[in-house]
Amino acid sequence: MSDAGRSRKACESDREILQKSAYRKVSKRSVARASAVLEKTQTYTGVGVDPPAKGHHFLHIDDFSKEELWAMLQTSIKVKEALKSGDNSYKPFAGLTMAMIFTKPSMRTRVSFETGFFKLGGHAIYLGPDTIQIGKREATKDIARVLCRYNDVIMARLFAHEDILELAQYSSSPVVNGLTDYNHPCQIMADALTMIEHKGRIEGTKVVYVGDGNNIVHSWIRLAAKFDFEFVCACPEGYEPDPATVALVNEGGAGKVTISHNPLEAVKGADVVYTDVWASMGQKEEAELRKKKFQGFQVNEEMMAAAGPDALFLHCLPAERGIECTDGVVEGPQSVVFQEAENRMHAQNGVLLHCLGLA
Ligand code: CP
Ligand code: NVA
Repeated sequence: MSDAGRSRKACESDREILQKSAYRKVSKRSVARASAVLEKTQTYTGVGVDPPAKGHHFLHIDDFSKEELWAMLQTSIKVKEALKSGDNSYKPFAGLTMAMIFTKPSMRTRVSFETGFFKLGGHAIYLGPDTIQIGKREATKDIARVLCRYNDVIMARLFAHEDILELAQYSSSPVVNGLTDYNHPCQIMADALTMIEHKGRIEGTKVVYVGDGNNIVHSWIRLAAKFDFEFVCACPEGYEPDPATVALVNEGGAGKVTISHNPLEAVKGADVVYTDVWASMGQKEEAELRKKKFQGFQVNEEMMAAAGPDALFLHCLPAERGIECTDGVVEGPQSVVFQEAENRMHAQNGVLLHCLGLA
């Protein structure tokens, strides 16, 4: 059999494995439908979702101007400084409640939102996967219209991106995106804050993401729509981010996005090397297949050496040590992953203050 024939055969068997994975279909369909929405109504840029009665939804990073994003980050820095100094007197969320809907597991998102909101005087309510059952127990638009009557803000971690758009459309309180199959904007605000703390800037930097072109990547790309920096996604063929999202930046965004299939080359001169799990939540049954596909894409000591000594290592966590990154890199001198995790709370406080019109 020729090489091309062998490779075709391998692809066919991969396709069979993927077809057995129900989640892959859900995930890809979700992104595909979302791209269709983008083409049709620009809902993906937030344009098609009505704003809440008061304040702003936080659904995608680029729903905001660069100035607004910068203001959120500056607020985050101030509130972080106050909390770090032991000054607990700032209580802008006093008397406010936040409903938090989770259809997927979480540690950082749940705890950072709940703790951050409490520290600034508010009360957060955790609604886990068995409580609300989005799309199963009752219609998403009904959930939105009921929850916003009790709560000043709704935070949600959901599978389908359309569901968060629908929640926002029907909620008179601001809706904050705590991750969907498509994006994770709060994470990237925390990453931007971490970059500011270590590099002093976002603009003019080179951020190289090595791994799957997933929800984290889509939010990085959307940050590049507003800030002028170079974002490179080094991923295996077939695992590229959504092309419509890449086009959004490259056809008029502030920054520049490139796709590479050569991670060792891509990381050269990087200010940040970033990675995430190869199989996201809901894709775990593809983990073995992906381990084969992602050979050469592990962020290890060799890759950090190729990036150079000034490169930071970031990971949204949870990390699967020994798979997408090595233990040595997570624990190494270039790693700032735990500061990055802490910054989830501070960045989200900044986002919430702005979305609620309190900053
Ligand atoms: N990074 C992040 O969102 O972590 P969790 O899944 O633990 O919330
Ligand atoms: N891409 C990962 C991010 C986890 C914070 C996932 O969706 O599981």
